[in-house]
Amino acid sequence: MPRKLRDDIGSSKLFQDYDRWPKHFQEALEEEFQLNFIPRAERLVFAGMGGSAVAGDIIADWLSEDQPARIEVVKDYHLPLHMTRKSLVITISCSGNTEETVSVLLEALKRQIPCVAVSSGGLLEQVSQKRRVPFIKVKALSSPRSSLPFMLIPAARIALESLGKNAKERELVECLDIMRDVGNQTSTRASTRLNPAAMLAKMTKNCQPIIYTPLTLKAAAIRFKNSLNENAKVHSSVEMLPELCHNELEAWINNNRTWLPILLRSKKEPPEVNQRFKAVQSIMRNNGAKPFEAWAKGSTRLSKIMSLLYLLDFSTLYLAKLKGLNPLPTPNIDALKKQLGSNLRYLERYAPR
Ligand code: F6R
Repeated sequence: MPRKLRDDIGSSKLFQDYDRWPKHFQEALEEEFQLNFIPRAERLVFAGMGGSAVAGDIIADWLSEDQPARIEVVKDYHLPLHMTRKSLVITISCSGNTEETVSVLLEALKRQIPCVAVSSGGLLEQVSQKRRVPFIKVKALSSPRSSLPFMLIPAARIALESLGKNAKERELVECLDIMRDVGNQTSTRASTRLNPAAMLAKMTKNCQPIIYTPLTLKAAAIRFKNSLNENAKVHSSVEMLPELCHNELEAWINNNRTWLPILLRSKKEPPEVNQRFKAVQSIMRNNGAKPFEAWAKGSTRLSKIMSLLYLLDFSTLYLAKLKGLNPLPTPNIDALKKQLGSNLRYLERYAPR
């Protein structure tokens, strides 16, 4: 098949996945999961990498609203030392074959810390079967990042069950309405002229995007950076309020227009966030920059994070298109995984026989 044709098909698969996110979200919500095996826990640790770790980032930011410090996200091979048997480790890997995530699952088993696994199959499923780890099999779309709804919902349900917070399930339903709303404005079916994601992509095309976020929305910011990297193949960075006011702010001096500051905003921001954003924007403007404000929708923290994430992810797809790139393949990531896989032989060593 000619490369151009293959690329077009690949790219449109990714667009299709994102266009259908509200449907996927609904499908995942309607799925019945067996959750009676989920133990109550004092602390939760999500373990995953890249597109799979994002589910943990979102849930941690969402639930830390009323339970600070009880939820952590590990993006590494190892579990923190302070994890005890009163913790629950939730390993998430779309493919099920990510070294770091499999390593955490094996470490949890070794330390006898309760654990569960979420994946579309792979080694995570094999280890779970062999070692009787509760396992939830999820659907994988054209990429781990576009499969987010299928990982997020079961992981959220596990977290709510384990922390005894089932009342918050209704926030998942509100989030679905918000996703539909965002989809109507940003998907490929929406008018290009009024599409905020397409507008942002245009602004980003000749600039270097830097993302500014309050801590409450950092999951959306991190995901946006990752999607700029993976879909649009551009560098980016995340700056967090209030810390950026003590360092990064100083870099705005006699500025050039090469940087595009993208600010993650929401109505009813706490006054300290609102005031800081105002002051920071004024310094940026005085130095020649034109900040872009992306506004969250919805009343809950989850809806705010997801509405931004959906809009911003879409903008990275449009940016790829504007740059003439296929957003789907991630050849550098794949090559690195292959190289490490054959050098460390990690998965082979640990695969259950
Ligand atoms: C996202 C992507 C990567 C993977 C990461 C981990 O689309 O391709 O960020 O999510 O390399 O792989 P999985 O998700 O299979 O554990």
